[in-house]
Amino acid sequence: MTPTSAEAGGLAGAPPLPAHPDPQLDAVLDSGLPHELSHALGGPFHLLLPERFDANAAAFEDVLREAGVEGRVYYAKKANKAAVWMDRCALSGRGVDVASAGELRDALGHGVRGEDVVVTGPTKAEGLLRVAVLQGCLIAVDAPDELESVLAQARAVARPARVLLRRLPPAQPHSRFGFDDGELEAALARCAQAKDAIVMEGFSFHLSGYDPLLRAESAGELVELCLKARVMGLRADRISIGGGFAVDYTDAEHWERFLREQRPEHYHAGKSFASGDFYPYHSPVAGPDALRTVLAADGLAGRLREAGVQLLLEPGRALLDRAGCTVFRVQGVKNRSGYGIVTVDGSSLSLSEQWFNSEYLPDPVLLPAHERQGEPYAACVGGATCLESDMVTWRKVRFPTRPAVGDLLVYPNTAGYQMDSNESPFHELPLPPKIVLDTAGGTTRWRLDRHPLA
Ligand SMILES: Cc1ncc(COP(=O)(O)O)c(C=O)c1O
Repeated sequence: MTPTSAEAGGLAGAPPLPAHPDPQLDAVLDSGLPHELSHALGGPFHLLLPERFDANAAAFEDVLREAGVEGRVYYAKKANKAAVWMDRCALSGRGVDVASAGELRDALGHGVRGEDVVVTGPTKAEGLLRVAVLQGCLIAVDAPDELESVLAQARAVARPARVLLRRLPPAQPHSRFGFDDGELEAALARCAQAKDAIVMEGFSFHLSGYDPLLRAESAGELVELCLKARVMGLRADRISIGGGFAVDYTDAEHWERFLREQRPEHYHAGKSFASGDFYPYHSPVAGPDALRTVLAADGLAGRLREAGVQLLLEPGRALLDRAGCTVFRVQGVKNRSGYGIVTVDGSSLSLSEQWFNSEYLPDPVLLPAHERQGEPYAACVGGATCLESDMVTWRKVRFPTRPAVGDLLVYPNTAGYQMDSNESPFHELPLPPKIVLDTAGGTTRWRLDRHPLA
C-alpha cells in the first residue's frame, strides 16, 4: 500500500532544500533529452555545461580587473575529472592546478601548456616533479626535503625549476601543509644559493574553510614575505591563495530553516547528522564575490599593486558552480512506515559527499517518465548495491508525487567534487558517462566527454 499524504504528514516539517532556480537547465530537463540519454546509456550519467565553467572563470577574472590586480585563475583539476574542462582551459589560456602525474598528463594531453600549470599537493612523486620541471610548470613546494628533490630534478635535466614556497599558515598551525617559519627562512637561503637551478617566484598557502578575511590576512603576510625575499635577490613576484571560494547552492531562508529543524526522524533509519558536518550550502558571499571581499579586506588589492605582486587563484568547486548535474533512473520504489525507499540505477559513489559522514543536501528533482497526478510522497534514495550504507540520500525528500520505475532523479549542481571523486566500478557497474551539453548557437547538442574510440 502507498503511504498517503496523511501518512507522510508526519514529515510535513521535513525541511526542503531546493537548489537555486536554473531556468536554462530546466529547459534541458524538460526537453525530454534526459530520458533519451537514460534509455541510450542504460545507467546513470552526468550532464556537463561547459559554458558555465567559462563564465565562472571570467567572473573571477573580472573581479581581478576591477580591483586593478594582476593575477590569474588556475582550475583545481581535482574537483572534476572531465576532459572538457581541460579543453576549455587550453583554448582560453587559463591555468590548471594539478596534484598528480595523471592530472598533469591529462592537462598537457589536452593542450594546456606546461607554463600554465601549477603543481600542488604535499610532497610530490619524483616522476611528477621531473615532468613538471621539464614542462616549465610552477611547483608549489611543500617541505624542505621536497625542495631538495626539486633541486635535484632541475640539475638532472639541466632546466631551472619554477617554484613557490608554501607557507604553513600561522592561523592554522595544525595543518599538515607547508613550511613553518624557521623552515621557510632556511628555504629562502637555499633558493638564493641555488639560483642556477631554482627560480623562486613567490609563496603560497593552503587554508581550510571558506573565510575570505583569513585569506586576505594570510595573503597580506605573503606580500611582505615577497618583499623580504627580493632583498635576497629572489624574484618573488606572485602569491597563490589556493581555492576555497564557497559555492552558494540554496537561499538563506531554506538553509536556515533546514539547520534549525533537521532531526533524525527526517532521515532513513533515524540517521543523525550534526549541522556543522554539512557543507555550508548557503553562503551569503560566494565565488567571485568572495574574491572581491578578499581583495577589499586589509587594503589587499592596493598592497598587491604597490608591491608588484600577482595574485594566483586555484578555485575548483567555484568554477564548477551550476556546471553539471547527475541523473539516475528510478529502478524501484518500496514503502516503509510513513515514507518510501526509492532505489536508483547507480550508487552513492556518484555523490561523494555521502562518503564523508555527511549528506549532499540540494533536493533531487523528479522527472516523471509520464505525466501523472498524485499526492506528495516522502522518500529516501538508495543505490543499486548490496551495501546497507549506500544511500544516495538518507533524507526523506518530499517529492510532488510517488516516484515510479522509469522516472528520473536529477541531483543539481554536482560537478564540484560530487560526481566523480569517489566513483569506482563497484559491483562491476560501469562508471556513469559524462555528457557534454553544447548550447552555443541557441540549440542544444550533446556528446560524450571522452569518446571511447578516441
Ligand atoms: C592547493 C589547493 N588548491 C585548490 C584547491 C581547491 O579548493 P576549492 O575547490 O575549494 O576551490 C584545494 C582544495 O583542497 C587545494 O588544496
